Amino acid sequence: MRKMTRAVTVGAAAAGLLAVVVPNVMANSPGHEHPAKPAPGHSKPGGSDPAPLRALAQKAGIRIGTAVNSDALADEAPYEAKVGSEFSSVSPENVMKWDTVEPARGTYNYTQADALVSYAKAHGQLVRGHTLVWYNQLPSWVTSGDFTADQLRQVLHDHITSEVKHFKGKIWQWDVVNEAFNDDGSYRDDIWLQKLGPSYIEDAFRWAHQADPKAVLFINDYNIEGVNAKSTAVYDLVAKLRKEGVPLQGVGIQGHLDTQYPAPHDIATNMARFDKLGVQTAITEADVRIPLPADNTEVEAQNEAYQTLLEGCLLTRNCTDFTVWGFTDKYSWVPSTFKGEGQANIFDENYQPKTAYTALSQDLRLAGR
Ligand code: XIL
Repeated sequence: MRKMTRAVTVGAAAAGLLAVVVPNVMANSPGHEHPAKPAPGHSKPGGSDPAPLRALAQKAGIRIGTAVNSDALADEAPYEAKVGSEFSSVSPENVMKWDTVEPARGTYNYTQADALVSYAKAHGQLVRGHTLVWYNQLPSWVTSGDFTADQLRQVLHDHITSEVKHFKGKIWQWDVVNEAFNDDGSYRDDIWLQKLGPSYIEDAFRWAHQADPKAVLFINDYNIEGVNAKSTAVYDLVAKLRKEGVPLQGVGIQGHLDTQYPAPHDIATNMARFDKLGVQTAITEADVRIPLPADNTEVEAQNEAYQTLLEGCLLTRNCTDFTVWGFTDKYSWVPSTFKGEGQANIFDENYQPKTAYTALSQDLRLAGR
């Protein structure tokens, strides 16, 4: 019922949303000069919203999450404070991935992941488990193990079963299979497809479900924000697996955007078709990178891109979570992965909220009314 109310409220607000919000967050843009003009993307002093995002998100009927860098959480007080105060869900940025969790066959290491789960519990946050089956961040014993298909299937089964059982009852949503598709909609030609064929996907969901029947099981990918060949391939697979009774209950849309490309304005249309399949959706890894140095136009494009992702979620009845992939520019995977790009997050390196933060908080405020 609450979801219904939200959808109706947001639907009514949606038409005016960009018109209302964008001029406010564009207050620093050329033509809106401010005497003490802050650097591009920085909120005016005192301009940040006093209500934390998690309170606004609760009113809007969703969780708001962040990927968490476990080292920063342990070592840096302002980082830890923001994770606790601003967010109502957390995703481990790295510490539930295969290379950390099972560095040698049958040897499991959950130290940092357990710490994050405890932290979340103490702060009233839900945990998105990330991730069980991926081609990346695999230990070399898996990639160079020279296993037969049967042996590799057993390896995958054991990894999923052990990890999901370890966290049984503590994980809200699991990203079971991550990045299984190419942009043209074909399956990614990784170790899993090469050795096991596409049935590894349904096997992974069945094994995860056996290990923790209450966790909500997601398939997760990037470049599936709008309607395109890749999102349609994910849609077709989800429809097929659900028809076959495979326990797949969610679609995660990563949301790694770049101001060089248009924002995915058809995201709500895309998410609506997943909604109709009866699965949950979530924006799981939102960030918007900018070619550096950033100018005001790019900062405005960044604000708009963040809003486009959030509005997609707010307009989709069974979208349950909006997660940013890190919240501060101080710890972002972007500069080391995309040469010459950065400033992708909603807080700057000194934990000051940027205009993208204000843009998100205004959208949440409108949705929650
Ligand atoms: C990234 C992390 O942020 C980096 O710290 C790590 O070095 C590589 O992985 N899609 C995903 C995430 O699903 O797991 C990735 O995280 C970013 C892209």
